[in-house]
Amino acid sequence: MRDDVLLSGVRENAWRQLPRLAARTSLTPTMLKVAAFFLLLLTLSLGAQEMGREPFRPQFHFTPERNWMNDPNGMVYLDGEWHLFYQYNPEGDKWGHMSWGHAVSRDLVSWEHLPLALAEEDGVMIFSGSAVVDWGNTSGFGKDGQSPLVAIYTGHREKRQDQRLAFSNDRGRTWTKYEGNPVLDLNLADFRDPKVSWHEASARWVMVVALPAEKKVHFYSSRDLKAWERVGEFGPAGAVGGAWECPDLFPLAVEGEKGATKWVLIVNLNPGGPAGGSGCQYFVGDFDGNRFAAETQAAPLWADFGADFYAAVSWSDVPVTDGRRIWLGWMSNWKYAEAVPTAPWRSAMTVPRTLSLRKTPEGMRLVQRPVVELEKLRQEGARTFSGGSFLEAAEWLKAQADLAPLLEVEMTFAEVADKTAFAIDIHTGPDERTTLTCDPATKQLGLDRSRSGQVAFHKEFASGASAPLRFVDGRLALRLLLDTSSLEIFAENGEATVTKLIFPKAGSRQISLTSGPGANPLVSGITIRALRSTQ
Ligand code: FRU
Repeated sequence: MRDDVLLSGVRENAWRQLPRLAARTSLTPTMLKVAAFFLLLLTLSLGAQEMGREPFRPQFHFTPERNWMNDPNGMVYLDGEWHLFYQYNPEGDKWGHMSWGHAVSRDLVSWEHLPLALAEEDGVMIFSGSAVVDWGNTSGFGKDGQSPLVAIYTGHREKRQDQRLAFSNDRGRTWTKYEGNPVLDLNLADFRDPKVSWHEASARWVMVVALPAEKKVHFYSSRDLKAWERVGEFGPAGAVGGAWECPDLFPLAVEGEKGATKWVLIVNLNPGGPAGGSGCQYFVGDFDGNRFAAETQAAPLWADFGADFYAAVSWSDVPVTDGRRIWLGWMSNWKYAEAVPTAPWRSAMTVPRTLSLRKTPEGMRLVQRPVVELEKLRQEGARTFSGGSFLEAAEWLKAQADLAPLLEVEMTFAEVADKTAFAIDIHTGPDERTTLTCDPATKQLGLDRSRSGQVAFHKEFASGASAPLRFVDGRLALRLLLDTSSLEIFAENGEATVTKLIFPKAGSRQISLTSGPGANPLVSGITIRALRSTQ
């Protein structure tokens, strides 16, 4: 409305001046009118761009329109819709008044924002939790023969956390809190983040829930989602340098072994993560419906080695015909999440990732790949280097000026058996770059964001990260996803991932390749694709 008023005012004034202007130039009034019209369009579109500009707004990662977001919650698939609920503060851009925000997607790429699903009420905040489709209406919440969606979340009050239910009979559009809440209360200050799933073998619901201070998870089982019986527990184990939060538990296929599955127990941890602050660890083993038996592991296993992958949990009820286990994480870190320089929103989710397990000489490892749906974002006209020496690849990259700000980059190296470390720089301005270092001697992939753009908003933001690499047969494959304010690295076909926020200048990007003295690896291929925005 206001835009229309403004626009008609501008148009009228300019229009009245035209005959006088025409008299003073050699142009006819009609020619001037056409020129003025285009000038007006240009001005309006530049103005709109300037006004709508939100520096650092991710273009293909989920963000709330405004205000604060943390953990993904209640992820469930129903009737062609991927539901994403999330920890949300409806009243501000810092943590507080926790409620569940809500969005849905039909393709895991574009998201539709929906109204708040579960709001803080009577001093009880809605902390993290999960949602399931109650196909058999075991809860009795269903209506007219329809299976209800049931959310299982933590109710948080000062010094007291318990587990509660809410249900929806209209595809998640409206929710009713269960009048019998709480359904599980141990009279504890720290008892949260229930993740519920249907355990096929015992035909019961299973809940894994965290006791953060004790660095433990409990397993509960139920026939109706309302009455819960404790059946087992796990921990402390693995990384225990912080509170255990947001667990998940699911069976996962082992790559290349038909029909083979193992159980994966996810335990997010804050602080004490691999790059400082928040981190996501996992255990591989077996689960019999009551107990989880972890395979022996020498050290904690990290799902992601960057600083910005937390509270990751997976989608429930993905159809068997799809068969994937998909998750995403909160792309931030409790250390500095409230200080990141974005407005009017704070925080983004990572891209959805497909999970699998891979048998390696060191044991089973969690493998993550961006969901295939994201390939829709690829624009025409990929730039490709089809293989050659390191120097040839570096020269080719130098010639690829003005790369788009949204990028997917694939790089494969061969014969990396020597001791020469090499670096990939993503330049985002004359003196801005984010550096990846591949070091065959230490078998590490390093990520340095100390010169990546804005870093001073928090003293620990500039910190680096490093992930282990195997360089199988002297090869290394890297896939990078670059958005306006994040970099996700999938190394060795998803075996190691590094997720980091960056806050660089807007504009075009350039990539460079450098190495120290000594034998260089071969570059077997580079593909650079510009990605489309979903905004
Ligand atoms: C993890 C967490 C959860 C809790 C929620 C509160 O980031 O601390 O344990 O439920 O955030 O917002």
